[in-house]
Amino acid sequence: MIQSANPTPPLVIVGAGDHGTVVADTAQVAGRQVLGHLDDDPSIPNLLAPDDPRLADAQFIVAIGDNATRLAILKRLRAEGRTFTNVIHPSAVISPGATLGESVYVGPLAVVNTHATLGDAVIINSGAVVEHHCTVGPAVHLAPKAALAGRVTVHERTLVGVGAKILPGVTLGQHCIVGAGAVAVTDIPDHTTAIGIPARPC
Ligand SMILES: CC(C)(COP(=O)(O)OP(=O)(O)OC[C@H]1O[C@@H](n2cnc3c(N)ncnc32)[C@H](O)[C@@H]1OP(=O)(O)O)[C@@H](O)C(=O)NCCC(=O)NCCS
Repeated sequence: MIQSANPTPPLVIVGAGDHGTVVADTAQVAGRQVLGHLDDDPSIPNLLAPDDPRLADAQFIVAIGDNATRLAILKRLRAEGRTFTNVIHPSAVISPGATLGESVYVGPLAVVNTHATLGDAVIINSGAVVEHHCTVGPAVHLAPKAALAGRVTVHERTLVGVGAKILPGVTLGQHCIVGAGAVAVTDIPDHTTAIGIPARPC
């Protein structure tokens, strides 16, 4: 058997909740060796021990659904010297002209088109679309089937809910929630929850 000189390092998934489970599944479908999960909930069985020596050579992805927590843990692990990788479902389409940060998850049937930029710890969930020239900040979560039209900007830690649509050129502020099914036709200020068609603060 011929062995690769530089085998892909095993993967550590930080978070063992729903999103962590999804990321583990996608990683396995993508052919990654999953070492296991780290989590601060001691009631979860079969977790990796934080002092497991195999962690030294592993790559990490932070798979926690809450945007602020995901970003904070990424920063903490980076300060500890951990290295990160992205988990991308094989059915996702990522343009070679797109730029991805670290610890990014892209789910099944998602699309990231050319000149789109994704920050660290972004989640592009199942079937979500990031069109051309979009800028997606750190720890943004596009829920399943959410869609950003061209040249949309989404600032950090914002959640775009299931099936929500953001029209071309619109800017979503930081730490916003665009409710499920909403259609954002104008900019949404920082720290705002907006729902409906057209999306309005609520
Ligand atoms: C908008 C949202 C954040 C509101 O959550 P909430 O503050 O807990 O609101 P509630 O469920 O208490 O509902 C408050 C009111 O808003 C309405 N509402 C809730 N979500 C709505 C939505 N997406 N669109 C329109 N109306 C909505 C409710 O019907 C309710 O109306 P009422 O006061 O007339 O009864 C939430 O419903 C939502 O859409 N979250 C996105 C979830 C998501 O996509 N997660 C991703 C998982 S992968």
